[in-house]
Amino acid sequence: MCGIVGVLGDHEAAPLLVEALKRLEYRGYDSAGIATVNEGALDRRRAVGKLVNLSDLLVHEPLVGKAGIGHTRWATHGAPTEINAHPHRAGPVAVVHNGIIENYRELRAELAEKGIKFATETDTETVALMTQHHMAQGKSPAEAATATLNQLHGAFALVFLFEGEDDLLIAARKGSPLAIGHGDGEVFVGSDAIALGPLTDRITYLDEGDRAVLTRSSIEIRDEAGNLVNRPVRKIHQDAARVDKGGHKHFMAKEIAEQPTVLAEAIRSYLTPDGKGIALPGDGIDFTTVDRLTMVACGTASYACLTAKYWFEQFARIPVDVDIASEFRYREPPIPARTTALFVSQSGETADTLAALRYCHEKAERIVSVVNVPESSIARESDLALPIHAGVEVGVASTKAFTCQLVVLLLLALKAATDRGEMSADELAAHLAELRSLPGVLNAALERGKDVRKVARKLAEARDVLFLGRGLMFPLALEGALKLKEISYIHAEAYASGELKHGPIALIDKTVPVVVMAPRDALFDKTVSNMQEVMARGGKVLLITDSEGAQDAGEGVWQQIILPSVAPILTPILYALPAQQLAYHTAIAKGTDVDQPRNLAKSVTVE
Ligand code: F6R
Repeated sequence: MCGIVGVLGDHEAAPLLVEALKRLEYRGYDSAGIATVNEGALDRRRAVGKLVNLSDLLVHEPLVGKAGIGHTRWATHGAPTEINAHPHRAGPVAVVHNGIIENYRELRAELAEKGIKFATETDTETVALMTQHHMAQGKSPAEAATATLNQLHGAFALVFLFEGEDDLLIAARKGSPLAIGHGDGEVFVGSDAIALGPLTDRITYLDEGDRAVLTRSSIEIRDEAGNLVNRPVRKIHQDAARVDKGGHKHFMAKEIAEQPTVLAEAIRSYLTPDGKGIALPGDGIDFTTVDRLTMVACGTASYACLTAKYWFEQFARIPVDVDIASEFRYREPPIPARTTALFVSQSGETADTLAALRYCHEKAERIVSVVNVPESSIARESDLALPIHAGVEVGVASTKAFTCQLVVLLLLALKAATDRGEMSADELAAHLAELRSLPGVLNAALERGKDVRKVARKLAEARDVLFLGRGLMFPLALEGALKLKEISYIHAEAYASGELKHGPIALIDKTVPVVVMAPRDALFDKTVSNMQEVMARGGKVLLITDSEGAQDAGEGVWQQIILPSVAPILTPILYALPAQQLAYHTAIAKGTDVDQPRNLAKSVTVE
């Protein structure tokens, strides 16, 4: 959600900034801009739309200078216009910002009283104007930035650049992540290590409230109270910052195809060397001390939690609550004793999930997170962070992170079951053997992609689509509908199959395809009955099942996608694949922007 970058280099900054922004474009792509200082002169270029528009502009109107800042925007305050694009400038100050300044209206009123005029509707311009105002009162750039930062409420990552200062950047973090990259006689700032991948592999993550004064030869970091602090320098593994499509047309296609490999790694990393037991990092979790699990997340990650609820309740007999973070945080639910709070987040930076986690500090017995970014805020603020090992996920629609989340949550549920005496060591070993064979099954399922593509061409003609599933397939139906709507813009809703006749069945007619996700498991016959109810009313059923299910489903199905058979507990992981492929191929058929769908951004760091 907005990507920001800063460079104090010994080469021209503009190409480096644009390259870094390319790697951050998944965070927002409403507009982009850069500013540089060249021999003291501050200048900027901004363009609406994708980054390529800014690159084109820079060909005609180049920007020189070895110090600069850049931004790719996901609009919060103010429409995505050039005037609202970052960097925002006020006299000698240029600022890029990720987050929301919550008290900007009061600050604007204060500035307006002083006769200061505004050019934009954004909260960020307020930051630039306040800093300019402090400088006009005689403060140095660093003092002025500090004075401004002390007045801000909300969540932000900010980088300041100043006229007349070819060797100065000021960076600040509160609520939105920010990383400093160490070069040789150069220094960089970025929303994440991925942005800085080609520039350096030595990174310092700022802590909450930190402010940093950066020159090419010095990095001075202070905490919110103004104390000088040392933050560790970490070496980032090359692969962790790799961002390429690996020969695929889209990141999403690559990330779908990667699932057998990344899942194998996720599974391997949690198994004991003999493959028969589960080993959690650190002190792990002793589930005999857990009376209740509260799971909180947003979007796709919340559907991973919902799936895990079935596993935890069925195998470990632990009561589980699943909540959407944006509701949980303001509902302020009571947290009973011996509750473990579990947060699931690919980015580890989702503002609502982080706020929900903070609500549970002191209240829950233990805070556990399941994350893809081990250095993220959610990971760092947890008692135990469990990595999902999915690798960088760039496509805005989550795919491999979802299935890796499912793997880690399944392993946790199995561990809980054995800890609590609900599952024998032999049963556990049998489940783990099935899990180890899952990557091979996923490969076989991916090979059927052509069948999904054919079906997707037909689905692309629909205006509305319903998804149905029962038991473990209900969260998958929700995920299938979310994937389809976010990248193809087709209206899609999901229901538990049994809920159909309590209302949604009124929507059924021949123009509304109904995707039924139904492996041949214990609930299959029930789902087939619901499917018959749809067909009896002229509905078109697209059945996703296995070959046994296809045989038993009877006549009249409109389309079928047939998957390999797997153990019932693994069906959510396998059935995620056709849900993703269906959305992907439908979006391709409709010609939408698969990796950067409209209005969305990866890593939602505002609430
Ligand atoms: C949908 C999707 C989102 C995210 C949600 C939470 O494809 O990706 O629904 O799952 O924004 O993000 P994280 O997992 O980063 O907390």
